[in-house]
Amino acid sequence: MKMKKLCAFVAAGMLALSLVACTDGNEPAKTATEQTQAESTKAEGSSENTDSKGGKIGISMPTKSLERWNRDGSYLEKEFEKAGYEVSLTYSDNKIDQQVKDIEGLIADKVNLLVVAAIDGESLAQVLAEAKSQNIPVIAYDRLIMNTDAISYYVSFDNYTVGKLQGEFVAQKLDLANAGDKKFNIEFTGGDPADNNAKFFFNGAMDVIKPYIEKGTVVVPSGQTTFEQVGTAQWDTSKALSRFQNILGSYYSDGTQLDAAVCSNDSTALGVTQAIQSDYAGSNEIIITGQDGDEANLANIIDGKQTMTVYKAVANEAVATLNLGEAILNNEKPDASLIEKSGWSFDCTYDTSSYDNGAAVIPSYLLVPVTVTKDNIQKELVDTGYYTMGSDGYPHPVQ
Ligand code: BGC
Repeated sequence: MKMKKLCAFVAAGMLALSLVACTDGNEPAKTATEQTQAESTKAEGSSENTDSKGGKIGISMPTKSLERWNRDGSYLEKEFEKAGYEVSLTYSDNKIDQQVKDIEGLIADKVNLLVVAAIDGESLAQVLAEAKSQNIPVIAYDRLIMNTDAISYYVSFDNYTVGKLQGEFVAQKLDLANAGDKKFNIEFTGGDPADNNAKFFFNGAMDVIKPYIEKGTVVVPSGQTTFEQVGTAQWDTSKALSRFQNILGSYYSDGTQLDAAVCSNDSTALGVTQAIQSDYAGSNEIIITGQDGDEANLANIIDGKQTMTVYKAVANEAVATLNLGEAILNNEKPDASLIEKSGWSFDCTYDTSSYDNGAAVIPSYLLVPVTVTKDNIQKELVDTGYYTMGSDGYPHPVQ
């Protein structure tokens, strides 16, 4: 049964929300949420949720060990605090049980809204049922949470497009469309099978490359072409490293040339790059893809060891989550109109068909990823204010 009243707030004063869009469409969006919001008093459900002026937000992030979540956590915390909310931010060390406990803690703490990036999309149904029973709305952040009717919305990037950009980059670089009789060897490294995003990334890339495999232009010497074969538990760099060392040892030690390594993200690309450095006999340039713009990977891109990354402006993902969260807390029913109402300077689509979590199709706000190479790091990452170029010649994230 659908929850009747997610969070029936009676705002004693109206939320005066003013959003200031940035000058440039690529800059991190800034909100200037003038905090004239009066105390939100919960009319029904847990009337205890009134501790701070704007209410309490529970943010559950997966781990600090994968770089991006540090940025996500800090942007989210900053955005919600700036808007007058109290924030409890937890990291669960990539341990599923820990995340369940952390969310239980946030529920016990009477948060008004939960923002959750799941470690394992399949493992939170029970704890989120508890959130639902206490009328705490839940936003699935970046990763879809599966098999639960407790989540109201999903905020992420267009995950399929992330993979598509990786595939298209490789296809373009190798000029696969005009390859004639030439053959190229490619290997794939995917993400964590427990993360619903991972399949989207893999499918996006594979859908671009597959026709060339079928034509014979692309060969995968390891034969590992399914998501199940190429996955990397927990997106772990050392797992990606040892798997790729095995591949190089088994299929490339006879001098076979590797032309491209399609890696779903930067943490796996880091392992694959290390494996190539230590275990690849050839001296040709290998195209290596990634995602996120992690510091070490950007340095590798500058140094020519990784070829591209797909950048997702998590600063904007945090802004979208804030505005969505506020709309939910104001008892609105956010839909496509939120995008225009919020005045975001970044592109976003409202998608009501792509993300079925097994219980329902979850309405999703999907931001747009961009391809970053050595040639546009300055323009896309530094000029936009997300990173500064250090005196060491490498970009460093600004938080
Ligand atoms: C995120 C990626 C990230 C990966 C590992 C995915 O859910 O969308 O940006 O690289 O998790 O942290």
